Amino acid sequence: MQELETARLYLRQFTPDDLDDLYRIYSDSEIMKHLGKGVLTKEETQNRLYAILETWKQNNFGIWALLHKIDNRFIGRCGLVFLDKTPEVELGYILDKHYWNRGLATEASLASLHYGFDILKLEKIVAVARPENLASQRVMQKVGMKYEKNARYYDSDVVYYSISRSVYFRLQNLQLN
Ligand SMILES: CC(C)(COP(=O)(O)OP(=O)(O)OC[C@H]1O[C@@H](n2cnc3c(N)ncnc32)[C@H](O)[C@@H]1OP(=O)(O)O)[C@@H](O)C(=O)NCCC(=O)NCCS
Repeated sequence: MQELETARLYLRQFTPDDLDDLYRIYSDSEIMKHLGKGVLTKEETQNRLYAILETWKQNNFGIWALLHKIDNRFIGRCGLVFLDKTPEVELGYILDKHYWNRGLATEASLASLHYGFDILKLEKIVAVARPENLASQRVMQKVGMKYEKNARYYDSDVVYYSISRSVYFRLQNLQLN
C-alpha cells in the first residue's frame, strides 16, 4: 500500500483511529453540501472508513488520508476509487473547509493521478461532480481533465470529466520543459 508525499502534504493510509477526524468532515453540512445525501452520521462514517480500508485490500488503489506537513493535521481525503458501478477509475477529494482555496486539493489530485498513471498504468481517470460544484470542477480543470459529458452516477446528475494517460504525460512533459 503506497504512501505519497507532495510539497505540502502527506498522503497516508487511513487507520481505524481516523474516525473522529473523518467524522469532523463528513458531519459538516457546508463541506458535504454537494455530496450524496449530505452529512453522515458517525455510524455511516465508520462504515465509509471500513469501506476505504477494505477497498485498499481488494484493489491496489484507494483513498488516502491527507495530512498537512506543517503540523501533521488531518485535513481531508483524496484518491482513486471505482466510479459507481463501473470499471472506470475515479479521482475524488474532500477537504476540511478551513483549508480550501490554497491549491491543496489540486496538489493531492496530481499525486493521485501520478499514482494512477505511473504506478497503476491506467489508461484513463475520470472525475464527476454536481454541475453546481464549481470548485470541484475547477480542480478537475487545473489537473488537466476535460469536460466530456453530463451523466448520471450515484443517483445524481453530474458533469463528467476525464484525462487520458497520454494527455497526462504530455502535460507533465510540458511542465518539466
Ligand atoms: C472541491 C474541493 C476539494 C477543492 O479543494 P481546494 O483545496 O479548495 O481546491 P484548490 O484550492 O486546489 O482549487 C480550488 C479552485 O476552485 C476555485 N473555486 C472555489 N470556489 C469556487 C466557486 N464557488 N466558484 C468557482 N470557483 C471556485 C478556486 O478559486 C480555485 O481555483 P483557482 O486556483 O483557479 O483560483 C473543496 O472545495 C471541498 O472539499 N469541497 C467539499 C467537498 C467536495 O465538494 N468534494 C468534491 C466532490 S465532487
